[in-house]
Amino acid sequence: MTKQAFITKSIIPVAGLGTRSLPASKTIPKEMLPVHDKPTVQYIVEEAVNSGLEHIVFITNRDKKSIEDHFDYNLQLEALLAEKNKPELLKAVRDVAEYISIVSIRQKQQKGLGHAILCAKDFIHDEYFAVMLGDDLFFSPVPGIRQLMDVAVQTGKSVIGVMEVEESNVSKYGIIDPIVVDDTDSMIYKVRNIVEKPKQHEAPSRLAVVGRYVLSDKIFDYLETISPSVDGEIQLTDAIQRMAQNEGVLAVKIQGERFDAGDRIEYLLANIHFALQDERLAEQLTTRLLSMLQK
Ligand code: UTP
Repeated sequence: MTKQAFITKSIIPVAGLGTRSLPASKTIPKEMLPVHDKPTVQYIVEEAVNSGLEHIVFITNRDKKSIEDHFDYNLQLEALLAEKNKPELLKAVRDVAEYISIVSIRQKQQKGLGHAILCAKDFIHDEYFAVMLGDDLFFSPVPGIRQLMDVAVQTGKSVIGVMEVEESNVSKYGIIDPIVVDDTDSMIYKVRNIVEKPKQHEAPSRLAVVGRYVLSDKIFDYLETISPSVDGEIQLTDAIQRMAQNEGVLAVKIQGERFDAGDRIEYLLANIHFALQDERLAEQLTTRLLSMLQK
């Protein structure tokens, strides 16, 4: 059995400062801001569980304790809900604590996403592992990270998730220079290069790197040797870029919808999208939205 056949761990970095979500994220971590009826990060953890992952490593900071607490038991609340005979709420509250094994590691200084991943090095051994950004939401029949895990298992390569973005938005993302490997049902590309936040006319494609990755443990060697970028951050993209050049990295076009909950408009859209999936709300919400739009 090859080592990528067992992908059991996911790193979920949630240590970022969340400046785009201020002032809402002043005392509440942006990953705890609700989307429809649960915190953003709960969707990510559920995606991990639904993908068959078994262990989660949160990369946190001193202000993110509420994320750990959310996935723990709250015996006082549970007792109260039991006493008030609210079995559904009790189940919803308890289930979250029982989803999956979780550990937390502190990133003591916010030195970038690459540095955050490096903080988990001692927890990852000679194995492939998932990375799921704590503010990137996917809605798809096959969970986003599972789509990448399937390709990693088949090919033995590290795999990054990409999605097509509007031409006017390429400058917000890392954009891949792709070579098509498989254009059948799941689009798979070989990554020739990643250009970080290119100008519209310099972008090699419209395929943007989004917040899902399956990486081999070799990524730590690259993370340890790359230099910080101009703003002092260690960029995950730079390490993946090196890895792509030396040993090859694949990109998979994730099938489904994605919302960057760290972005104001996308956060609002995510709320509407997930609320519309809830049959208790869909009809009323649609009517109210339509009437708001007609004003
Ligand atoms: P973002 O680019 O969204 O940065 O990070 P941010 O700091 O969270 O938010 P803004 O841009 O200031 O609004 C992408 C992911 O990487 C994590 C974040 O928590 C988020 O999940 N991250 C980023 C860390 O864990 N540590 C870091 O040093 C930087």
